Amino acid sequence: MQTTDEDTRRLAEEIYLEALKAREIVSRHARKTPLDHSSTFSRMSGGHVYLKYENLQKTGSFKIRGALYKVYRVRSQASGVVAASAGNHAQGVAYAARSLGLPSIIVMPETASISKVEATRGYGAQVVLYGKIYDEAEQKAREIAEEKGYAFIHPFDDPHVIAGQGTVALEILEDLSDIDVVVVPVGGGGLISGIAAVFKKLSPSTRIVGVEPENAPKFTESLRAGKPVTVEVRPTIADGLATKKPGNLTFRIVSGLVDKMVTVTEDELAKAIYLLLERGKVLAEGAGAAALAAILSGKVDVEGKRVVALVSGGNIDLTAIYRLLIRGLAGAGRIAAIQGHVPDLPGTLAKIASIIASYRGNIVEVIHDRADMEAPAWHTTLKIIFEAPSLETVETILKELERHGYRFQLL
Ligand SMILES: Cc1ncc(COP(=O)(O)O)c(C=O)c1O
Repeated sequence: MQTTDEDTRRLAEEIYLEALKAREIVSRHARKTPLDHSSTFSRMSGGHVYLKYENLQKTGSFKIRGALYKVYRVRSQASGVVAASAGNHAQGVAYAARSLGLPSIIVMPETASISKVEATRGYGAQVVLYGKIYDEAEQKAREIAEEKGYAFIHPFDDPHVIAGQGTVALEILEDLSDIDVVVVPVGGGGLISGIAAVFKKLSPSTRIVGVEPENAPKFTESLRAGKPVTVEVRPTIADGLATKKPGNLTFRIVSGLVDKMVTVTEDELAKAIYLLLERGKVLAEGAGAAALAAILSGKVDVEGKRVVALVSGGNIDLTAIYRLLIRGLAGAGRIAAIQGHVPDLPGTLAKIASIIASYRGNIVEVIHDRADMEAPAWHTTLKIIFEAPSLETVETILKELERHGYRFQLL
Protein backbone atom coordinates (compact mmCIF):
# COMPACT_ATOMS: atom_id res chain seq x y z
CA MET A 1 0.00 0.00 0.00
CA GLN A 2 2.92 2.35 0.59
CA THR A 3 3.83 4.79 -2.14
CA THR A 4 6.15 7.16 -0.29
CA ASP A 5 7.42 9.82 -2.64
CA GLU A 6 10.17 12.24 -1.71
CA ASP A 7 7.69 15.04 -0.85
CA THR A 8 5.74 12.85 1.54
CA ARG A 9 8.96 11.69 3.19
CA ARG A 10 9.94 15.31 3.73
CA LEU A 11 6.50 16.15 5.07
CA ALA A 12 6.69 13.24 7.53
CA GLU A 13 10.13 14.41 8.65
CA GLU A 14 8.76 17.93 9.28
CA ILE A 15 5.84 16.54 11.24
CA TYR A 16 8.21 14.46 13.33
CA LEU A 17 10.27 17.58 14.15
CA GLU A 18 7.09 19.50 15.00
CA ALA A 19 5.97 16.59 17.22
CA LEU A 20 9.17 17.00 19.23
CA LYS A 21 8.29 20.67 19.81
CA ALA A 22 4.65 19.77 20.51
CA ARG A 23 5.84 17.36 23.19
CA GLU A 24 7.01 20.29 25.34
CA ILE A 25 3.64 22.04 25.26
CA VAL A 26 1.59 18.88 25.52
CA SER A 27 3.54 17.55 28.50
CA ARG A 28 2.91 20.83 30.33
CA HIS A 29 -0.88 20.69 29.99
CA ALA A 30 -1.81 17.06 29.32
CA ARG A 31 -1.01 13.72 30.92
CA LYS A 32 1.53 11.17 29.91
CA THR A 33 -0.89 8.25 29.74
CA PRO A 34 0.02 4.71 30.80
CA LEU A 35 1.10 1.99 28.38
CA ASP A 36 0.41 -1.42 29.92
CA HIS A 37 0.77 -5.03 28.91
CA SER A 38 -2.53 -6.90 28.88
CA SER A 39 -2.21 -10.60 29.63
CA THR A 40 -5.92 -11.16 28.95
CA PHE A 41 -5.87 -9.68 25.45
CA SER A 42 -2.48 -11.25 24.72
CA ARG A 43 -3.93 -14.66 25.56
CA MET A 44 -7.05 -14.00 23.50
CA SER A 45 -5.13 -12.84 20.41
CA GLY A 46 -1.90 -14.83 20.52
CA GLY A 47 0.19 -11.64 20.47
CA HIS A 48 1.95 -9.61 23.15
CA VAL A 49 -0.64 -6.87 23.47
CA TYR A 50 0.03 -3.48 25.06
CA LEU A 51 -2.69 -0.85 25.45
CA LYS A 52 -2.03 2.88 25.40
CA TYR A 53 -4.69 4.42 27.60
CA GLU A 54 -5.65 7.74 26.03
CA ASN A 55 -9.11 7.28 27.55
CA LEU A 56 -7.35 8.41 30.75
CA GLN A 57 -6.12 11.58 29.04
CA LYS A 58 -7.50 14.93 30.22
CA THR A 59 -10.90 15.53 28.55
CA GLY A 60 -11.12 11.76 27.98
CA SER A 61 -9.31 11.48 24.65
CA PHE A 62 -6.04 12.12 22.81
CA LYS A 63 -7.66 15.05 20.98
CA ILE A 64 -6.32 17.56 23.47
CA ARG A 65 -2.78 16.91 22.18
CA GLY A 66 -3.32 18.27 18.66
CA ALA A 67 -5.54 21.03 19.99
CA LEU A 68 -2.90 22.18 22.49
CA TYR A 69 -0.16 22.40 19.91
CA LYS A 70 -2.34 24.15 17.34
CA VAL A 71 -3.68 26.70 19.83
CA TYR A 72 -0.11 27.28 21.00
CA ARG A 73 1.00 27.93 17.40
CA VAL A 74 -1.79 30.42 16.61
CA ARG A 75 -1.87 32.23 19.94
CA SER A 76 0.19 35.24 18.82
CA GLN A 77 -1.76 35.86 15.57
CA ALA A 78 -5.33 35.25 16.78
CA SER A 79 -7.32 36.68 19.65
CA GLY A 80 -9.29 33.46 20.09
CA VAL A 81 -10.03 30.07 18.50
CA VAL A 82 -13.07 28.47 16.90
CA ALA A 83 -13.77 24.82 16.18
CA ALA A 84 -16.67 22.72 14.99
CA SER A 85 -17.27 19.31 16.53
CA ALA A 86 -19.90 17.15 18.16
CA GLY A 87 -17.35 15.21 20.12
CA ASN A 88 -13.85 14.97 21.46
CA HIS A 89 -12.30 17.74 19.37
CA ALA A 90 -14.76 20.19 20.96
CA GLN A 91 -13.59 19.32 24.44
CA GLY A 92 -9.94 19.20 23.38
CA VAL A 93 -9.99 22.68 21.85
CA ALA A 94 -11.98 24.16 24.75
CA TYR A 95 -9.51 22.74 27.27
CA ALA A 96 -6.46 23.72 25.23
CA ALA A 97 -7.68 27.30 24.76
CA ARG A 98 -8.36 27.71 28.45
CA SER A 99 -4.96 26.22 29.37
CA LEU A 100 -3.21 28.69 27.05
CA GLY A 101 -5.36 31.67 28.05
CA LEU A 102 -7.39 32.21 24.85
CA PRO A 103 -11.18 32.42 24.51
CA SER A 104 -12.83 29.67 22.44
CA ILE A 105 -16.09 29.28 20.55
CA ILE A 106 -17.17 25.76 19.69
CA VAL A 107 -19.92 25.24 17.15
CA MET A 108 -21.74 21.98 17.79
CA PRO A 109 -24.53 20.51 15.64
CA GLU A 110 -27.96 20.87 17.29
CA THR A 111 -28.01 17.07 17.58
CA ALA A 112 -24.93 16.97 19.86
CA SER A 113 -25.53 15.11 23.12
CA ILE A 114 -26.29 17.22 26.18
CA SER A 115 -23.41 15.62 28.08
CA LYS A 116 -20.90 16.67 25.37
CA VAL A 117 -22.31 20.21 25.23
CA GLU A 118 -22.09 20.51 29.00
CA ALA A 119 -18.56 19.08 29.12
CA THR A 120 -17.42 21.56 26.45
CA ARG A 121 -18.98 24.48 28.33
CA GLY A 122 -17.40 23.11 31.50
CA TYR A 123 -13.96 23.56 29.92
CA GLY A 124 -14.73 27.23 29.45
CA ALA A 125 -15.86 27.42 25.81
CA GLN A 126 -18.76 29.41 24.46
CA VAL A 127 -20.91 26.81 22.73
CA VAL A 128 -22.96 27.72 19.66
CA LEU A 129 -25.50 25.10 18.61
CA TYR A 130 -25.95 25.29 14.87
CA GLY A 131 -27.01 23.03 11.99
CA LYS A 132 -28.22 19.48 11.71
CA ILE A 133 -24.91 17.97 10.61
CA TYR A 134 -21.21 18.59 11.07
CA ASP A 135 -20.76 20.33 7.69
CA GLU A 136 -23.24 23.05 8.63
CA ALA A 137 -21.56 23.53 12.00
CA GLU A 138 -18.16 23.80 10.28
CA GLN A 139 -19.44 26.41 7.84
CA LYS A 140 -20.77 28.45 10.76
CA ALA A 141 -17.49 28.08 12.67
CA ARG A 142 -15.53 29.39 9.68
CA GLU A 143 -17.86 32.38 9.44
CA ILE A 144 -17.39 33.16 13.13
CA ALA A 145 -13.61 32.86 12.74
CA GLU A 146 -13.71 35.34 9.86
CA GLU A 147 -15.95 37.82 11.70
CA LYS A 148 -14.05 37.81 14.98
CA GLY A 149 -10.51 37.31 13.74
CA TYR A 150 -10.27 33.97 15.56
CA ALA A 151 -8.29 31.01 14.25
CA PHE A 152 -10.27 28.03 12.98
CA ILE A 153 -8.86 24.76 14.38
CA HIS A 154 -9.38 21.87 12.00
CA PRO A 155 -9.94 18.50 13.71
CA PHE A 156 -7.37 16.60 11.64
CA ASP A 157 -6.17 18.14 8.34
CA ASP A 158 -3.55 20.44 9.77
CA PRO A 159 0.19 19.79 10.20
CA HIS A 160 0.29 21.18 13.75
CA VAL A 161 -2.73 19.18 14.86
CA ILE A 162 -1.14 16.08 13.32
CA ALA A 163 2.19 16.82 15.04
CA GLY A 164 0.36 17.20 18.38
CA GLN A 165 -1.28 13.80 17.94
CA GLY A 166 2.17 12.41 17.12
CA THR A 167 3.20 12.99 20.74
CA VAL A 168 1.28 9.80 21.61
CA ALA A 169 3.88 7.90 19.56
CA LEU A 170 6.79 9.68 21.28
CA GLU A 171 5.41 8.54 24.63
CA ILE A 172 4.88 4.97 23.44
CA LEU A 173 8.46 4.76 22.19
CA GLU A 174 9.76 6.15 25.45
CA ASP A 175 8.13 3.26 27.30
CA LEU A 176 8.55 0.34 24.89
CA SER A 177 10.97 -0.76 22.18
CA ASP A 178 10.94 -3.45 19.47
CA ILE A 179 7.30 -2.85 18.63
CA ASP A 180 6.20 -4.99 15.67
CA VAL A 181 2.79 -3.44 15.08
CA VAL A 182 0.89 -0.37 16.23
CA VAL A 183 -2.86 -0.35 15.66
CA VAL A 184 -4.65 3.00 15.46
CA PRO A 185 -8.31 4.00 15.04
CA VAL A 186 -8.89 6.25 12.03
CA GLY A 187 -11.43 9.05 11.64
CA GLY A 188 -10.12 11.94 9.52
CA GLY A 189 -6.65 10.44 9.88
CA GLY A 190 -4.90 13.04 12.07
CA LEU A 191 -3.99 10.60 14.82
CA ILE A 192 -2.58 7.88 12.57
CA SER A 193 -0.70 10.46 10.47
CA GLY A 194 1.07 11.86 13.54
CA ILE A 195 1.84 8.38 14.86
CA ALA A 196 3.07 7.14 11.48
CA ALA A 197 5.38 10.16 11.02
CA VAL A 198 7.02 9.55 14.41
CA PHE A 199 7.29 5.77 14.05
CA LYS A 200 8.72 5.90 10.53
CA LYS A 201 11.48 8.10 11.89
CA LEU A 202 12.24 6.39 15.20
CA SER A 203 11.13 2.82 14.60
CA PRO A 204 10.81 2.31 10.83
CA SER A 205 10.31 -1.46 11.02
CA THR A 206 7.10 -1.11 13.06
CA ARG A 207 4.02 -1.81 10.94
CA ILE A 208 1.32 0.85 11.20
CA VAL A 209 -2.22 -0.47 10.88
CA GLY A 210 -5.31 1.74 10.72
CA VAL A 211 -8.81 0.68 11.74
CA GLU A 212 -12.08 2.11 10.44
CA PRO A 213 -15.66 1.08 11.08
CA GLU A 214 -17.16 -0.88 8.20
CA ASN A 215 -19.87 1.81 8.33
CA ALA A 216 -17.42 4.66 7.64
CA PRO A 217 -14.69 3.24 5.35
CA LYS A 218 -13.42 6.53 3.91
CA PHE A 219 -9.71 5.63 3.88
CA THR A 220 -10.28 2.09 2.67
CA GLU A 221 -12.28 3.44 -0.27
CA SER A 222 -10.00 6.41 -0.90
CA LEU A 223 -6.87 4.26 -0.93
CA ARG A 224 -8.58 2.00 -3.46
CA ALA A 225 -9.50 5.03 -5.59
CA GLY A 226 -6.03 6.57 -5.25
CA LYS A 227 -7.49 9.90 -4.06
CA PRO A 228 -9.68 11.18 -1.19
CA VAL A 229 -13.28 10.20 -1.92
CA THR A 230 -16.50 10.82 0.02
CA VAL A 231 -18.27 7.72 1.34
CA GLU A 232 -21.75 7.28 2.67
CA VAL A 233 -21.49 7.02 6.46
CA ARG A 234 -23.94 4.72 8.24
CA PRO A 235 -24.55 4.99 11.97
CA THR A 236 -21.72 3.54 14.02
CA ILE A 237 -20.95 3.07 17.72
CA ALA A 238 -17.53 4.49 16.87
CA ASP A 239 -18.97 7.97 16.28
CA GLY A 240 -15.50 9.51 16.61
CA LEU A 241 -14.53 7.69 13.38
CA ALA A 242 -17.66 8.60 11.42
CA THR A 243 -15.88 10.99 9.03
CA LYS A 244 -17.00 10.84 5.41
CA LYS A 245 -13.82 11.94 3.66
CA PRO A 246 -10.08 11.87 4.48
CA GLY A 247 -8.22 15.16 4.60
CA ASN A 248 -5.84 15.99 1.74
CA LEU A 249 -2.85 16.05 4.05
CA THR A 250 -3.86 12.99 6.05
CA PHE A 251 -4.60 11.07 2.85
CA ARG A 252 -1.10 11.81 1.57
CA ILE A 253 0.55 10.72 4.80
CA VAL A 254 -1.60 7.62 5.20
CA SER A 255 -1.01 6.47 1.61
CA GLY A 256 2.70 7.05 2.03
CA LEU A 257 3.35 5.69 5.52
CA VAL A 258 0.58 3.39 6.71
CA ASP A 259 1.05 -0.31 6.01
CA LYS A 260 -2.52 -1.55 6.20
CA MET A 261 -6.09 -0.35 6.70
CA VAL A 262 -8.75 -2.73 8.04
CA THR A 263 -12.44 -2.35 8.86
CA VAL A 264 -14.40 -3.65 11.85
CA THR A 265 -18.11 -4.39 12.20
CA GLU A 266 -20.48 -2.90 14.74
CA ASP A 267 -20.60 -6.25 16.56
CA GLU A 268 -16.81 -6.39 16.76
CA LEU A 269 -16.75 -2.85 18.17
CA ALA A 270 -19.47 -3.63 20.71
CA LYS A 271 -17.67 -6.79 21.81
CA ALA A 272 -14.38 -4.93 22.26
CA ILE A 273 -16.02 -2.23 24.42
CA TYR A 274 -17.64 -4.97 26.48
CA LEU A 275 -14.42 -6.97 26.89
CA LEU A 276 -12.38 -3.88 27.76
CA LEU A 277 -14.86 -3.13 30.49
CA GLU A 278 -15.38 -6.65 31.79
CA ARG A 279 -11.87 -8.06 31.47
CA GLY A 280 -9.73 -4.95 31.47
CA LYS A 281 -11.84 -2.71 33.77
CA VAL A 282 -11.33 -0.05 31.12
CA LEU A 283 -14.06 2.26 29.86
CA ALA A 284 -13.57 2.97 26.15
CA GLU A 285 -15.87 4.64 23.66
CA GLY A 286 -16.53 2.98 20.30
CA ALA A 287 -13.65 4.71 18.54
CA GLY A 288 -11.43 3.95 21.52
CA ALA A 289 -12.14 0.22 21.27
CA ALA A 290 -11.68 -0.06 17.49
CA ALA A 291 -7.98 -1.00 17.55
CA LEU A 292 -8.56 -3.81 20.02
CA ALA A 293 -11.63 -4.91 18.02
CA ALA A 294 -9.41 -5.32 14.94
CA ILE A 295 -6.90 -7.38 16.91
CA LEU A 296 -9.45 -9.63 18.62
CA SER A 297 -11.33 -10.26 15.40
CA GLY A 298 -8.14 -11.52 13.76
CA LYS A 299 -7.97 -8.72 11.18
CA VAL A 300 -4.43 -7.81 12.17
CA ASP A 301 -1.75 -10.47 12.25
CA VAL A 302 -0.37 -10.29 15.79
CA GLU A 303 0.60 -13.93 16.41
CA GLY A 304 3.76 -13.88 18.53
CA LYS A 305 4.20 -10.16 17.85
CA ARG A 306 4.64 -7.20 20.14
CA VAL A 307 1.66 -5.00 19.37
CA VAL A 308 0.42 -1.69 20.74
CA ALA A 309 -3.30 -0.86 20.45
CA LEU A 310 -4.46 2.65 21.04
CA VAL A 311 -7.41 3.08 23.37
CA SER A 312 -7.95 6.56 21.98
CA GLY A 313 -10.89 7.79 24.07
CA GLY A 314 -13.37 6.97 26.79
CA ASN A 315 -16.19 9.45 26.27
CA ILE A 316 -19.27 7.30 26.02
CA ASP A 317 -22.81 8.06 27.20
CA LEU A 318 -24.04 5.99 30.12
CA THR A 319 -27.17 5.04 28.18
CA ALA A 320 -24.98 3.72 25.35
CA ILE A 321 -22.97 1.65 27.84
CA TYR A 322 -26.15 0.17 29.22
CA ARG A 323 -27.34 -0.91 25.77
CA LEU A 324 -23.93 -2.29 24.88
CA LEU A 325 -23.62 -4.22 28.08
CA ILE A 326 -26.98 -5.89 27.59
CA ARG A 327 -25.99 -6.73 24.01
CA GLY A 328 -22.57 -7.98 25.10
CA LEU A 329 -24.01 -10.04 27.94
CA ALA A 330 -26.61 -11.53 25.58
CA GLY A 331 -23.92 -12.36 23.00
CA ALA A 332 -21.90 -14.18 25.64
CA GLY A 333 -24.98 -16.03 26.93
CA ARG A 334 -24.63 -14.26 30.26
CA ILE A 335 -28.13 -12.89 29.99
CA ALA A 336 -30.84 -14.70 28.02
CA ALA A 337 -34.40 -13.95 27.01
CA ILE A 338 -36.52 -16.99 26.18
CA GLN A 339 -40.15 -17.24 25.13
CA GLY A 340 -42.64 -20.07 24.70
CA HIS A 341 -46.27 -21.19 25.11
CA VAL A 342 -46.80 -23.24 28.26
CA PRO A 343 -49.88 -24.95 29.76
CA ASP A 344 -51.92 -22.53 31.88
CA LEU A 345 -51.89 -24.78 34.95
CA PRO A 346 -50.95 -24.21 38.61
CA GLY A 347 -47.34 -25.07 39.26
CA THR A 348 -46.06 -24.63 35.67
CA LEU A 349 -44.21 -21.42 36.44
CA ALA A 350 -42.68 -22.90 39.61
CA LYS A 351 -41.50 -25.99 37.71
CA ILE A 352 -39.89 -23.92 34.95
CA ALA A 353 -38.26 -21.58 37.47
CA SER A 354 -36.79 -24.53 39.35
CA ILE A 355 -35.30 -26.01 36.16
CA ILE A 356 -33.65 -22.66 35.38
CA ALA A 357 -32.42 -22.34 38.98
CA SER A 358 -30.95 -25.86 39.00
CA TYR A 359 -28.43 -24.66 36.36
CA ARG A 360 -27.66 -21.47 38.31
CA GLY A 361 -29.89 -19.35 36.07
CA ASN A 362 -31.02 -16.28 37.97
CA ILE A 363 -34.38 -14.92 36.84
CA VAL A 364 -34.42 -11.17 36.22
CA GLU A 365 -37.89 -10.74 34.75
CA VAL A 366 -40.97 -12.84 33.98
CA ILE A 367 -43.69 -11.73 31.55
CA HIS A 368 -46.74 -13.95 31.78
CA ASP A 369 -49.28 -13.03 29.09
CA ARG A 370 -52.55 -14.98 29.45
CA ALA A 371 -54.32 -12.77 26.91
CA ASP A 372 -51.95 -13.56 24.01
CA MET A 373 -54.20 -14.70 21.15
CA GLU A 374 -51.23 -16.41 19.49
CA ALA A 375 -51.02 -19.00 22.27
CA PRO A 376 -52.92 -22.29 21.73
CA ALA A 377 -56.04 -22.92 23.85
CA TRP A 378 -55.34 -23.37 27.60
CA HIS A 379 -51.82 -22.11 27.10
CA THR A 380 -50.20 -18.88 28.10
CA THR A 381 -47.22 -17.02 26.62
CA LEU A 382 -44.27 -16.89 28.93
CA LYS A 383 -41.19 -14.74 28.45
CA ILE A 384 -38.35 -15.13 30.93
CA ILE A 385 -35.16 -13.11 31.16
CA PHE A 386 -32.42 -14.65 33.27
CA GLU A 387 -28.72 -14.37 34.00
CA ALA A 388 -26.68 -17.48 33.29
CA PRO A 389 -23.05 -18.57 33.64
CA SER A 390 -22.56 -19.15 29.88
CA LEU A 391 -24.16 -19.70 26.48
CA GLU A 392 -23.71 -23.49 26.92
CA THR A 393 -25.72 -23.33 30.14
CA VAL A 394 -28.52 -21.44 28.36
CA GLU A 395 -28.59 -24.16 25.69
CA THR A 396 -28.66 -26.89 28.34
CA ILE A 397 -31.54 -25.14 30.12
CA LEU A 398 -33.51 -24.94 26.85
CA LYS A 399 -32.98 -28.70 26.26
CA GLU A 400 -33.93 -29.56 29.81
CA LEU A 401 -37.12 -27.46 29.58
CA GLU A 402 -37.99 -29.24 26.35
CA ARG A 403 -37.40 -32.63 27.99
CA HIS A 404 -40.05 -31.61 30.52
CA GLY A 405 -42.46 -30.64 27.73
CA TYR A 406 -41.81 -26.87 27.69
CA ARG A 407 -40.64 -25.57 24.29
CA PHE A 408 -38.91 -22.21 24.47
CA GLN A 409 -37.09 -20.13 21.90
CA LEU A 410 -34.04 -18.03 22.61
CA LEU A 411 -34.89 -14.45 21.63
C1 LIG B 1 -11.75 8.66 20.51
C2 LIG B 1 -11.29 8.94 19.13
N1 LIG B 1 -10.47 8.07 18.55
C3 LIG B 1 -10.01 8.24 17.29
C4 LIG B 1 -10.39 9.34 16.56
C5 LIG B 1 -9.85 9.49 15.15
O1 LIG B 1 -8.96 10.54 15.05
P1 LIG B 1 -8.64 11.19 13.64
O2 LIG B 1 -9.86 11.93 13.20
O3 LIG B 1 -7.48 12.06 13.87
O4 LIG B 1 -8.35 10.04 12.72
C6 LIG B 1 -11.25 10.30 17.13
C7 LIG B 1 -11.65 11.48 16.37
O5 LIG B 1 -12.43 12.28 16.82
C8 LIG B 1 -11.71 10.09 18.44
O6 LIG B 1 -12.53 10.98 19.04
